[in-house]
Formats: sequence, C-alpha cells, structure tokens
Amino acid sequence: MLIAAGGIMTGRGIAGALAMGAAGAQLGTAFLSTAEAGTKPGHRRLLAEAAAAGEGRTVLTRAFTARQARKLLAAGEAMPAEPAMLAAFPAQHGLTKPIRARAEAAGVPEAQAWWAGAGAGLSRSLPVAGLVERLGQELAVALEGLTRSDR
Ligand SMILES: Cc1cc2nc3c(=O)[nH]c(=O)nc-3n(C[C@H](O)[C@H](O)[C@H](O)COP(=O)(O)O)c2cc1C
Repeated sequence: MLIAAGGIMTGRGIAGALAMGAAGAQLGTAFLSTAEAGTKPGHRRLLAEAAAAGEGRTVLTRAFTARQARKLLAAGEAMPAEPAMLAAFPAQHGLTKPIRARAEAAGVPEAQAWWAGAGAGLSRSLPVAGLVERLGQELAVALEGLTRSDR
C-alpha cells in the first residue's frame, strides 16, 4: 500500500495522489498553521509570510541535525552553505540546540530550524476542523472533475 507524502497542501493535491494510485495522502506542513498546532510564533510568522507571498522558499540542509531536512527561509535570508564538518546524527541536533534557542530569542533566522515542506506557500491559518473540512470539500470537487474527464 502506498501513502503519498511531501508537498501536498490541498484537496486537489490529495486527489492528484489518489489518481496516480496512492491509497492515501499524508499532510504535515498543511497543519503547522492551524490554530491548535504547537507551532512556535516565529515559525508561524514565516509560514504566514510564505502564504501571503504564495510561495515558501525552502532548502534542504544537513546543518541542524546531520540528516537532510527542509528548512523554510525568511524573506531575504541567504541559502545556507552546507557545513564542512558535521557530528553524527543525533549529536549534531544536540550541538545546535542551544544555538537555535539563542537564535530564536534574538530573532536570527539563519540559525533557526523552521522546518516546512515545499508547499509552505499554500499554508492556511485555520482551526484544524476548518482545514480538514476545506480539504474534504476541495477533494470532492477535484475527484468529481477527474471522474468527468474520464467519461
Ligand atoms: C515541523 C516538522 C518536523 C519534521 N520532522 C521530521 C523528522 O524528524 N523526520 C522525518 O523523517 N521527517 C520530518 N518531517 C518531514 C515530514 O515527514 C513531512 O512533512 C511529511 O512527509 C509530509 O510532507 P509535507 O510536510 O510536505 O506535507 C518534519 C516536517 C515538519 C514540518
């Protein structure tokens, strides 16, 4: 059984995954902006900025944990260079934790690990029930469209 994941933010995206044969779709980033999520204020602000701009600039980096992870960049933030030396996972995560905490307090985006998927620009700030309802409506409309184009 295949579950599609990564960059899916809308019911239309879920429909696309199902149409290509996935048994289901998994959404992560889409829920970061919901009212109930424990997303930190700085992270939430970046997601809102990405949504307002209609695109989130993200980059894959190993700098924070030594494993590839997708970081959301702030407006004007330069692409991070990959460090020449890294501790093994999870030691790198522990080593950068105090740096990230200080960076968050000081508002330095370069040293903050605000993770988000490539679809961050489609984030919606809603109560979670509202988001799920919206996804369901969009999915129904998209599936109806797919069925019609099959006829
Ligand atoms: C805040 C956050 C933390 C994450 N942490 C991990 C992690 O520890 N390990 C991992 O494999 N993926 C992690 N991911 C990636 C999720 O597995 C990914 O978001 C999921 O495949 C869904 O993709 P999407 O966020 O584009 O919807 C994280 C994603 C976010 C947004």
